Amino acid sequence: MKVAFENQRILLTGASAGIGRAMAGMLAEAGAKSLILVARRENELENLKRELLQRYPQVAVYIYPCDLSDQTAIDHLLHYISREVGAVDILINNAGMGDYGLFETASWDKTERMLKLNIQGLTYLTHKLAAPMIALGRGGILNVSSGLGFFFMPGMSVYAATKHYVTAFSEALRLELKGTGVVVSQVCPGPVATEFSEVAGNTHLSEGLPPWLLLSAEQCAREALAGFAQGKALTIPGQAMHWLTLTGRLLPRPLMRLALSGTRKRLLKTQQTESPRIAPVH
Ligand SMILES: NC(=O)c1ccc[n+]([C@@H]2O[C@H](COP(=O)([O-])OP(=O)(O)OC[C@H]3O[C@@H](n4cnc5c(N)ncnc54)[C@H](OP(=O)(O)O)[C@@H]3O)[C@@H](O)[C@H]2O)c1
Repeated sequence: MKVAFENQRILLTGASAGIGRAMAGMLAEAGAKSLILVARRENELENLKRELLQRYPQVAVYIYPCDLSDQTAIDHLLHYISREVGAVDILINNAGMGDYGLFETASWDKTERMLKLNIQGLTYLTHKLAAPMIALGRGGILNVSSGLGFFFMPGMSVYAATKHYVTAFSEALRLELKGTGVVVSQVCPGPVATEFSEVAGNTHLSEGLPPWLLLSAEQCAREALAGFAQGKALTIPGQAMHWLTLTGRLLPRPLMRLALSGTRKRLLKTQQTESPRIAPVH
């Protein structure tokens, strides 16, 4: 079943930067009736709203600064939406964050925030908005997962695990909602040039990647929305990443373990020379 953006009320999380910011412009261009743009940074949301209204004055743009790792804040957001906007036709769960480094050296605050944002916030919003969509017999939910939703990755152990959650949740929910008129889709990008690496604590994450593997936020957003519009279960943006993910999933686990077995040594070295997140040396 296809998903149309025209004349729809769309809630987009993580709209202040990166993939979400790029999606906001594309959704306005596609004729969205209302865009509810959510992230923590109010200034960035205000700038985006101004830009969008200049180019697409017909779209009703609402901005709502909100920490989606906080369930009470999400409740306030939902009240605001039902009071000011009405029913949400389409939910795009894009907000997310990563963390890079050895697990034992991670800040617990950051780890907990990541779990709450990537898993709990996404699930809570979906839970609150799916039932009204089902009652109306129409709607769409796009979850932004990651290529790491399929693979394990030492150095990003918790992040990859949160994305395994998003991937499994999205696949199962899609099947649960089959026949209800509500489409659940997910996008699993590989590396995308955004603020993600900086937030994850490693600006070198995309260094050394072949340029053909690193997508722009715009290309990722465009392909993600195209796949969603076609009602696809899964979109992997970028031809190269698409094939790498498909072939990588066929690799036997023992081979993957072997390929990644030197990661601890490499991370210890990096953390000792470049990062304040110094690991205890065992
Ligand atoms: N970039 C990549 O290589 C890559 C690859 C695969 C998957 N992804 C996924 O793509 C999605 C978008 O990431 P991106 O690459 O566009 O990264 P980004 O540039 O860092 O953008 C992340 C967005 O999430 C928002 N956000 C972060 N923490 C939040 C919180 N607690 N509450 C509300 N909003 C929050 C940020 O806004 P504020 O800071 O203003 O709150 C920002 O708008 C994420 O789910 C990420 O896991 C990214």
